[in-house]
Parts: sequence; structure tokens; C-alpha cells
Amino acid sequence: MAKVTRTSARKSDHIRINLEQDVRSKLTNGLERYFFLHNALPELNLEEVDLSVQVFGKKLKAPLLISSMTGGSKEATQINQRLAEAAQASGVAMGLGSQRAAIEDKKLASSYKVRNVAPDILLFANLGAVQLNYGYGLDHLQRAVDMAEADALMLHLNALQEAVQPEGDTNFAGLLQKIEIMCKQLPVPVVIKEVGWGISGDLAKHLAHAGVQGIDVAGAGGTSWTQVEMHRAKNKRQARLAAAFADWGIPTAESIMQVRQAVRTMRIFASGGLRSGLDIAKCIALGAELGGMASPYLKAADQSAEAVVETIQEVARELQVAMFAAGAGDIPILQRVPLVLRE
Ligand SMILES: Cc1cc2nc3c(=O)[nH]c(=O)nc-3n(C[C@H](O)[C@H](O)[C@H](O)COP(=O)(O)O)c2cc1C
Repeated sequence: MAKVTRTSARKSDHIRINLEQDVRSKLTNGLERYFFLHNALPELNLEEVDLSVQVFGKKLKAPLLISSMTGGSKEATQINQRLAEAAQASGVAMGLGSQRAAIEDKKLASSYKVRNVAPDILLFANLGAVQLNYGYGLDHLQRAVDMAEADALMLHLNALQEAVQPEGDTNFAGLLQKIEIMCKQLPVPVVIKEVGWGISGDLAKHLAHAGVQGIDVAGAGGTSWTQVEMHRAKNKRQARLAAAFADWGIPTAESIMQVRQAVRTMRIFASGGLRSGLDIAKCIALGAELGGMASPYLKAADQSAEAVVETIQEVARELQVAMFAAGAGDIPILQRVPLVLRE
């Protein structure tokens, strides 16, 4: 029970710190080095530029993902309901935050139940992969999927975050093999995601071999979890350890490129410091299928579901205008548009 309270209390700390503190990575997402070649005569009708995509059998109106964030507390229940309502209204995908709190205490499951307001969205359940080394198995993963009525499961890799937490679960040894077993046994697709330091090409190869069906690179350049943990630190030593990693990680643009080059067929979701539709357009041109954002949607959800809808609409319109000016009439065409690299 003490452990449960800690898991839930930690999630509340995380929301508060993310809303109140500057927790940005000291790195950029790397996308500022890439540009579209402007198309002065796109031969397209802007209003007909088609943002829709199909992912894991679900049709989305735009290739946008509300990245995994929260659950497991009263405030998280409201945030998840607002995010889900907005995702349903806008036809975009959503990831739930780690469901560990509800696996450990069933009473918290309701904070992850969003199908009441979002019956149709592409929805991802979420757990930390490291829990497979701390007693979790197929049953726990299936429970996370079932409790959320999710379409797929995201397993997050957050080794660095756990390493700078005083109470972190830091045994990551032998996990790849366990992930492989889960991929074989779970009836839904498994997506592996980072939480803000990116995934390398080499790891992508191993994950592909393990049967992972998608990778959310969650690269560096946005929310930095060592910065968040620095604000949670109980003493100066812990704070210094966390602060030392403020510029750690593979920037999002670099991570997408590495994963795309390593495994041509891998389904890639981009996230990590994406803050506009133009950022997302660049990620798609680099090879991603969805663009995820966490922090901007959290700040909007702290206001209202309408604020989240507005943020989504703004991002989608910017993406649509970028596609128009780059001469890409739909997402598959955008995925083939070459970007210009300026050093
Ligand atoms: C408040 C908050 C909570 C998060 N919780 C989780 C989580 O439980 N599981 C997870 O996989 N990622 C979690 N993340 C990471 C995000 O899904 C995302 O990968 C990362 O923050 C980068 O996105 P951003 O730069 O747009 O914030 C969280 C992010 C935020 C801001």
C-alpha cells in the first residue's frame, strides 16, 4: 500500500512540476536544421490537402498523438477525460500515462477509463518495460490493455529517469528478451517508446527482431525527465546528479533518421520537443507516421477540453499549410518529400 501511494504521489508531483517549472532539455529537437524546399506553385487546393492516416486499423483525421502522460489520481482523471474528449472531437490518437498505479491498486483504474468520452480513438495503454524485471508478466500487461480498452500497448523505456530517482527501478538487464516474449504473447501490437532521450538505430534493429510493431522515438529536445527529477530531489546530491544530464539524449530528428535507416519497415511515431505543425511535418518527411506532443497538451488540459481541441486545431492547420507550401497533397506524399539540411 505504501508503494501504491508512492506511485500515485509521484505522478501528482510530475504533473505539478511539469506545469510549474521549466523542465526543457538543454538540447534542441534537431529539426531546426531541416527545411522544406518551398513550392511556389503547389497545384493543390489548400482545403483539400488530406491529413488523414490509418494506424493499427484506426482512421485518424490528422497524424497527431496526445503523448502518454497521466492517470492514477483525481487530478489525472480530469486531465485524461479532457484529453480524451478532445482526441475524440478531433479524430486524433491518445496515449495513457503509465498504468502501474492502477495495476497495484484497482481503485485507481477509473482514472484510465476514457472510452466513455472517446469510443472511437486510437488509444494506447502504457506501462514501464522495466516492470517486467520487477514481477510483471503477460497478465499485468493484458490487464493494462483491458482496463483501458486500448488498441495497442506502449511500453516505455526510461532507464535514465529511473537512474536519477531516489526510488528508481534500475535493473534493466535482460529486458529485451522479456519484451520479445510479450510481443509474441500479447494479442495487441506493442510499441516501444522512450520518454525524452531517443532511440538509436542499433536498438531499433533489436526491437524489430523482438517483434515490436512500432517505435515512438521520444527524442531529446522537449520535456527532460532528469530536469523534472531535479525538481523532485530531496537533497543537493540527488539534484546535482539529475542536473548533470540536462543535455543528454538523441535529438528527435536524429533518432527518427537513425531508426528509419536501421529498419526501413518500422512504424515510427515522432515525439520529444515537437511544438508546432511544422515540426510534425518535418518529422513525417523524415519518416514518421504520427507526431506526438505531451507538455503542450498537458498545459491546455489544465484549462479545459476546449483548450486541447484548440491546440490540436492549430497544430493540424499549421501541418496542412506546411504540406500545401511543400506541394504534398496527403501524408504518404509528405513522407516522400526530401528535406534540405542546412548545417
Ligand atoms: C506530465 C508528463 C507525464 C508523462 N508520463 C509518461 C508516462 O507515464 N509514460 C510514458 O511513456 N511517457 C510519459 N511522458 C513522456 C511523454 O509521453 C513524451 O514522450 C515526452 O514528454 C516528450 O514529449 P514533450 O517534449 O512533447 O513533452 C510524460 C510526459 C509528461 C509531460
